[in-house]
Amino acid sequence: MPVSIRQIGPCFAGEVEGVDMRRPLTADEVAAIHAGMDRYAVLVFHNQEIDDEQQLAFTRSLGEIELALHTGLRAATEYRLPTTFADVSNLDQHNRPMARDDRRRLFSIGNRLWHSDSSFKAVPAKYSLLHARKIPSRGGNTEFADMRAAWDALDDETKAACEGLVCEHSQIYSRQQIGFFDLSEEERERFKPVRQVLVRTHPATGRKSLYLASHAGAIVGWPVPEARAFLRDLIEHATQREFVYSHRWAVGDLVMWDNRQTMHRGRPFPPEEARDVRRTTIAGDAPTAEQIAA
Ligand SMILES: [Fe+2]
Repeated sequence: MPVSIRQIGPCFAGEVEGVDMRRPLTADEVAAIHAGMDRYAVLVFHNQEIDDEQQLAFTRSLGEIELALHTGLRAATEYRLPTTFADVSNLDQHNRPMARDDRRRLFSIGNRLWHSDSSFKAVPAKYSLLHARKIPSRGGNTEFADMRAAWDALDDETKAACEGLVCEHSQIYSRQQIGFFDLSEEERERFKPVRQVLVRTHPATGRKSLYLASHAGAIVGWPVPEARAFLRDLIEHATQREFVYSHRWAVGDLVMWDNRQTMHRGRPFPPEEARDVRRTTIAGDAPTAEQIAA
């Protein structure tokens, strides 16, 4: 069965049929998925009953894996999954939901803010692939915003103001917004800001998009309050409902998104229930901006 993709309702995302992630992909299937990502930026695959190895094999067939190293507050002894996965569940290493006041859980609540994965890394992520193994009884949707449509809808004056700007991204900035300041010196050092351009151009389609995230806390050359107010306005603009697709999860769904063209956020769910979702990530090609020398 050939790969087919249809747009989901009025949204920008696409729903894929004809892919079985338990089997190796053909070259034609790989090409169809990349073309779908270029066009839709978010692809939804249903009923994928896969394990970790199958998710890794599917991910590797589309590109090089970005490792999840030193990006959260879990100690190395507290990992539930290998570093080929980003553990975005609410579970500890014993598969139990973390306590409500667990600092690792509170840090991960930052994922409820609009963001693009790994924008706090000098080479930010290309695609993320999130697979649902266990979902809560309610809540926990993931919402996606189309940053190409957001760019297209800006007025010319704002577009001109954005062009050429470079932002500083750090998980310190996103956590400040939710009142999480409980970071050690070592963590602050690890989460030092990196630089990202504000406007990206897609290498295949040539479409421009706003490259924003709650991790962005400064604009190079701007006073901080003015930068933050400007970035906040842009995020508000980019996340109007007309630019947003909200995914309601079912076990077996795998959703793949292009971090260069979209932002996303998780929605709340009952904290005592398990939400086991596992993310693999495809590495980006290069930094988007020159970094400050260490
Ligand atoms: Fe994320």
